[in-house]
Amino acid sequence: MLPTCYPYTPASVFQALSTRMPKALGQENRLTKALAARTRPEPLLDLTGTNPTTAGLVHPDDVFALLGDPGSRLYEPEPRGRLEAREAVARYYASHGVPAQASRILLSASSSETYSWLFKLLAGPGETVLVPAPSYPLLDALAGLEAVRLERYRLPEEDGWAFHAGAVEEKLDELAHRGQRVAAVVVVNPNNPTGTGISRGEATALLDLAARHGFGVISDEVFADDVRARPRDGVAVLAGLESDALVFSLGGLSKTLVLPQLKLGFLLASGPAPLLAAALERLEWIADTFLSVGTPVQRALPQLLARRLQLKAPLTRRLATNLGALRSTFGAGSPVSVLPCHAGWSAVLRVPRRESEEELVLSLLEKQDVLAQPGYFYEFPHEAFLVLSLVTEPATFAEGLARISNALA
Ligand SMILES: Cc1ncc(COP(=O)(O)O)c(C=O)c1O
Repeated sequence: MLPTCYPYTPASVFQALSTRMPKALGQENRLTKALAARTRPEPLLDLTGTNPTTAGLVHPDDVFALLGDPGSRLYEPEPRGRLEAREAVARYYASHGVPAQASRILLSASSSETYSWLFKLLAGPGETVLVPAPSYPLLDALAGLEAVRLERYRLPEEDGWAFHAGAVEEKLDELAHRGQRVAAVVVVNPNNPTGTGISRGEATALLDLAARHGFGVISDEVFADDVRARPRDGVAVLAGLESDALVFSLGGLSKTLVLPQLKLGFLLASGPAPLLAAALERLEWIADTFLSVGTPVQRALPQLLARRLQLKAPLTRRLATNLGALRSTFGAGSPVSVLPCHAGWSAVLRVPRRESEEELVLSLLEKQDVLAQPGYFYEFPHEAFLVLSLVTEPATFAEGLARISNALA
């Protein structure tokens, strides 16, 4: 029988389909519309792309030859991931100074998938997960798809957007007054787009809160290998700390080896023994439901990770070149300031607020043929910021910066 809302109208679609997707799905924002309608013949200088493989950063053929292991003809699924692949991830953590047994490591198809597994593991439908602001915009979609509510805690601007456990505690208190339990707290370490990390003291304070309140900690460390200046007491891997909390550190090949197309993520779990064992057993069950990681990439993983520094070098050079261009374009006396870019693949410009961020990015597109992201995409608490991708091809990046500088002079 057809549902009562047939024939479907845009409104009745909402009755027929789940509410896990945004209501505004398909309603483009002004920037996307302007981009789609763009007819100017001048080439577009896109300063937002984060796909290294379309920005001239493609690894040589011998890297992809590693995926041709004849063993991949067999399908021998292992829900947690092949042991030798997990052991290779354990060696990766050892290189960060963290002893990590393969039994605490799981493989997934990407960090995004790891998030979805952890939300399923830690939060029931309608339960609350705390995420930082400003931070990575995909967290809203990942939470929505798991029917999990997001609440944001602040990364204080007055302390350079650094993580403060006190901001999490404030939010916990506020939610407790409203009768809401927090199932998990996400930290993005280093954060996207601000590049800020987490200090040992603040990490310990967060894990203490987690143990006392009984929430899980999800530490997104996909940019852990892209740190240019860590605070002296900075912590790279939260799951490497001694604590009574359940903690998951997330990483993946898209950032660590600049190989997003291989689709492999990993997590390292830590926590008090009985809780950790129960969490790993349940994660294995979730992973077994999907068995999403391909065999060729798992077989190639030990050799790929062994070449990490070599594979990362061209991207690291690219980031350094583009950071140099930022420094020389927006030096002393410029009305634009560049937030310290201590880590990650993004740069944030603080720009004079003569118009809204939206008006600014539209005018850059329409008058300068430059595409930049507005800060509000990342939930900055006020305007005006622009977010640029340091992965951009350097000639495009330098020319784009020159035009932004002229437009804002
Ligand atoms: C902070 C952060 N976490 C996770 C991801 C997703 O990574 P993956 O490709 O492993 O899903 C990204 C991608 O840009 C990111 O910026």
